[in-house]
Amino acid sequence: MEFMSEVLKIIEGALKANGSLAANYAGLLADKLASAGEFHQARLIRDQLARAPKALAFAQDASKGVSLGHVPVDGDSRLNTVDVSLPSLDGLSLFLPSAIQFRVDEFLESIRHHDILARAGAALPARLLVYGAPGTGKTMMARWIAAHLNYPLLTVRCDTLVSSMLGQTSRNLRRVFDYAQQAPSVLFLDEFDALASARGNERDVGELQRVVIALLQNMDALPDNTILVAATNHEQLLDPAIWRRFSFRIPMPLPDGELRLKLWKEMLGIYAPRRINWGELAELSNGSTGAVIQQVCLDAKRSAILQGEKVIEAPALFRRLGLMMRLSEGKQFSNQDEEIRWLREWMPKRFSLRVLAKLYGTTVRQIMTITGEISEDGDEEGRGSSNS
Ligand SMILES: Nc1ncnc2c1ncn2[C@@H]1O[C@H](COP(=O)(O)OP(=O)(O)OP(=O)(O)O)[C@@H](O)[C@H]1O
Ligand SMILES: [Mg+2]
Repeated sequence: MEFMSEVLKIIEGALKANGSLAANYAGLLADKLASAGEFHQARLIRDQLARAPKALAFAQDASKGVSLGHVPVDGDSRLNTVDVSLPSLDGLSLFLPSAIQFRVDEFLESIRHHDILARAGAALPARLLVYGAPGTGKTMMARWIAAHLNYPLLTVRCDTLVSSMLGQTSRNLRRVFDYAQQAPSVLFLDEFDALASARGNERDVGELQRVVIALLQNMDALPDNTILVAATNHEQLLDPAIWRRFSFRIPMPLPDGELRLKLWKEMLGIYAPRRINWGELAELSNGSTGAVIQQVCLDAKRSAILQGEKVIEAPALFRRLGLMMRLSEGKQFSNQDEEIRWLREWMPKRFSLRVLAKLYGTTVRQIMTITGEISEDGDEEGRGSSNS
């Protein structure tokens, strides 16, 4: 039978006297029937849902037809452990290398066609682990997946799930996993290593072991079609048993030249400098993450707007890129003179004396003094003419 997993969820809701669980999956079943062309059957279900008791109907209206009930809270701090959002595809452009995009598409397909695959004994549990350096788009990937499936995203910051109270962490986990089964959704465990670090970590070994075991039990008890996405910067810390439970594991690499080009074009948009050498920009940003490129673009855009300019000036963009890359290497300038000397050294053609003078609102002579191309008493040294 088609749509068996939704039917089973509706039965589960009825048996547990959990009206919102049954209603959520009935709504999903109606959507699926409608997209399969079964409009009459879909309408019968929606009519039935429209006659649902008032409280239930209200809860459904509140979040676009999906009722997720009360968000779980940490028993210790009383803070919410789950953040519910409805990501949309508007303005959400995730750029991935083709091999990785292919794997992500496979993950989505295996979710969309779970029942057909299950009948053939070829279904994979909907578990995806995304790992890679900070700022490579892992969190964005979770939003992108939820937006593509049109499901709510239930984000759990695993570090906040780890409670100060002994034993509370496992209870928090249980509540989060139960909550995710209330409605079709994407459960996203961010900063996953905080929970899934290898057993035997020297800090509080007993508690960590219990958490890893609780995590394994919760994952094993999760129905195959409940979607779980986890993200980490420290995949080497994950317990091997947890690593194995993810049927899809996707590394997020640093963007290559082609992807950097796409990122620059997308993120600069209409604010891109008029005459810009895109190839040079992509080349110079070798080693940057998407997050670094985004930050450079946003900062440059902001200052252009505040200065009343319609587009970003190329030198201002290159300057920001240079400074940001230095910063991501852990190097900083202690004063502006040092910064100017470094820019001049880094790209003497792009940062000519005149360009630097304009950029820093000073005179060419002053820049020459700073860079040592003219001595304090006015003698030109080194690179020569003031227009170079
Ligand atoms: N591949 C990419 N495609 C598009 N945008 C990207 C990409 N990688 C990074 N970005 C940009 O960088 C920003 C930060 O990315 P994100 O928060 O997803 O990184 P992360 O891998 O989760 O980092 P962290 O490990 O620090 O949590 C995003 O909002 C996005 O604008
Ligand atoms: Mg993240």
